[in-house]
Amino acid sequence: MKLWNKGFEPDKAIEEFTVGNDRELDLRLARYDVIGSMAHIRMLESIGLLGSDELPVLLEALQRILESAERGEFVIEEGVEDVHSQVELMLTRELGDLGKKIHSGRSRNDQVLVDLKLFMRDELKMLAERIKVVFDRLQSLSNEHKDTLMPGYTHLQVAMPSSFGLWFGAYAESLVDDMEMVVAAYNIANQNPLGSAAGYGSSFPLNRTMTTELLGFGALHYNVVAAQMSRGKTERAAAYAIASVASTLGKFAMDVCLFMCQNYGFISFPDNLTTGSSIMPHKKNPDVFEIMRGKCNRLQSVPNEISLLTTNLPLGYHRDLQLLKDIIFPATTTLCQCLDMCDFMLQNIIIKQDIIEDERYNYLFTVEDVNRLTLSGVPFREAYREVGMAVQRGEYTPTREVNHTHEGSIGNLCNDKIAEKMNKVLEKFGL
Ligand code: ARG
Repeated sequence: MKLWNKGFEPDKAIEEFTVGNDRELDLRLARYDVIGSMAHIRMLESIGLLGSDELPVLLEALQRILESAERGEFVIEEGVEDVHSQVELMLTRELGDLGKKIHSGRSRNDQVLVDLKLFMRDELKMLAERIKVVFDRLQSLSNEHKDTLMPGYTHLQVAMPSSFGLWFGAYAESLVDDMEMVVAAYNIANQNPLGSAAGYGSSFPLNRTMTTELLGFGALHYNVVAAQMSRGKTERAAAYAIASVASTLGKFAMDVCLFMCQNYGFISFPDNLTTGSSIMPHKKNPDVFEIMRGKCNRLQSVPNEISLLTTNLPLGYHRDLQLLKDIIFPATTTLCQCLDMCDFMLQNIIIKQDIIEDERYNYLFTVEDVNRLTLSGVPFREAYREVGMAVQRGEYTPTREVNHTHEGSIGNLCNDKIAEKMNKVLEKFGL
């Protein structure tokens, strides 16, 4: 069944090539397609393009389709091109000509746009919820282990005292920045494109303000061409947010792999959360974090993939845009899986105590000792030289006393302030 049937059937190979796996991907849009149609027909009725007796009949039929989509029972039948065609087919099968009336004043171009905007809004909200779970977990680990010191490194060389509180807390605060990106992407998705039709509006007196309100969009995408051009832009903004979260999570996964390695030995996980080797009987590998790192690294290429797909497309609809679904749908799903797995692993992390008692970390304390001398009145440069020369002569013995008090340091993590920052960002979502 083609919505655009004009008395001839397209070549089968052409159909297969152009539809690709869109039917499968469109299943995720089914509920949004129905919700979009419900708003559209309410508006059509308000401008006299549907009778007041026809509206409830159509709404009831759409409601049943919505429920079947929510139960996961909605299918796109063999030979049906996409979700939009399937919904219309179901309506016309049930209601005859009445079902054919719902497409007045729209095109599949704005229909798929509105579906995607509604879908992206939900995906980004779900992502925000998942990020918040990991944020809370990191913050609570940070508070729990705020007094457990670990070495801090620069250039991968032992540098200054750090702590598990600082490490976990750092990734929590980093997620606040990522959340800002998610909010920005949400705001871009939260605009109503319905009524832009094929991309140039309609001669019907559509009430686009009404559908904006009915669909709970934050704003109308006024200019119909701009609305169409938001296909790809919306996905790209979401991709940047996804890539931002993925870069934080990927870096964290890398730290975990490093700190689990025997040469560090700072953290471990229960045996059943590690993986083995087929040849080396002693192995307890961090495959979970390696896969997480790999997935997160791949996710960082998503904005690039979208840019390349959409670069140089002039204004107006192009079928290339269909391929965006293939890129962005799996991306949100993968990131959510990584966030869930990260939270699960963190619930089981084992932290080693007394790491810095080991004499290989003696030099962690040189700056502490320089600062102590400085506080006692020795000019900083002289104190630096004194400690430096002791190190040079192999006579340095650390005092191992650490006293950091300023905001954001190991002695004053300000986790409550960071939580406040996160809450402020989340308020924009109403979360
Ligand atoms: N599957 C199409 C897409 O995702 C739906 C819109 C088709 N529009 C068209 N003019 N062929 O882009």
